[in-house]
Amino acid sequence: MQRESQATNAMLMARRQAAIPRGVGHSHQIFIAKGENAEIWDVEGRRYIDFAGGIAVLNTGHRNPAVIEAVKAQLDQYTHTCFQVLAYEPYVELAERLNAKAPGDFAKKTLFLTTGAEAVENTIKIARAHTGRSGVIAFTGGYHGRTMMTLGLTGKV
Ligand SMILES: Cc1ncc(COP(=O)(O)O)c(C=O)c1O
Repeated sequence: MQRESQATNAMLMARRQAAIPRGVGHSHQIFIAKGENAEIWDVEGRRYIDFAGGIAVLNTGHRNPAVIEAVKAQLDQYTHTCFQVLAYEPYVELAERLNAKAPGDFAKKTLFLTTGAEAVENTIKIARAHTGRSGVIAFTGGYHGRTMMTLGLTGKV
């Protein structure tokens, strides 16, 4: 793979230590330069098979051509509006498609959130509003995020 930068993993990790709080943990001491399907290359040109997939959220692998095309097409139209301020059809269409795929013979609705912690917090708010009950049970050893409520639910350091 052709390298654009001369930075090594160690050099970037040193810059990261100086610029970013240590509370943001790291599984690996390498920096990605490029990803394709299930493979990644680090900034020193080493090739790896990516078994992590962004903690199991890269379901289509790195840079799936259909995803890249859809992102480029969207960027040519508009980027951010905040759906609550200025709505856009793709939000509605994606919700409809997910609702159609979700199991169960009843009406479904979907909202989109930015992070896992935001999803956990809103799930609890929705469940509380629906049931009228406030208690929540969380497991020892579970991880739910870094916001105050999800830290409260997290059962480990
Ligand atoms: C099980 C689980 N819940 C919640 C979260 C929090 O997600 P986020 O970091 O996007 O807020 C994570 C993130 O790793 C997670 O693994």
